[in-house]
Amino acid sequence: MAVRRTNKGPSVSRAKASAPSTSDERRPEASKLYSTKNDLPESTRREVIELLNARLADCIDLESQAKQAHWNVKGPSFIALHELFDQIHEAVDEYADLIAERVVQLGGIAEGTVGVVAQRTTLVDYPLVLTKGSEHVAALSDALAEFGRVVRVGIEEMTDLKDADSADVLTEISRGIDKWLWFVEAHQQGE
Ligand SMILES: [Fe+2]
Repeated sequence: MAVRRTNKGPSVSRAKASAPSTSDERRPEASKLYSTKNDLPESTRREVIELLNARLADCIDLESQAKQAHWNVKGPSFIALHELFDQIHEAVDEYADLIAERVVQLGGIAEGTVGVVAQRTTLVDYPLVLTKGSEHVAALSDALAEFGRVVRVGIEEMTDLKDADSADVLTEISRGIDKWLWFVEAHQQGE
């Protein structure tokens, strides 16, 4: 069955193409599948694990972007945004846990090291020079919206693969991301 996959933007692909090695080359155990009494077919589990590990990289990247915003935001809305960005970090950390543990439940290896995440993430790298609240609101809402998009694609992929539980995990995450996007965007919608 053909499964739709998310595509990276051209600049991201170019950056990845020049990397010295792929994560699979560095980690030969990456495709190892543990045996389990879980009755999902092995071929399904392999595809789901690969797709979930891709979303795990995005999720961990998003988590660090929220912290980056939490640490560096300045201006009159400092406290509100500082605290909101930390709440988002905390929630996204839980989403990463849900994805990673689903991978392991299916017999896979959760691939969430900084090195792998840096190589795989499809999110735009968070700018280091942002200061004003409005700049962080713009950057983090971009990241939340993009992650929300790829997670929604993931729900469809899991449904196509007939893994209702992974679709459910991603649906829960998608619902949360939409809420956090609302919380962040509300800061620019009142202006
Ligand atoms: Fe803090």
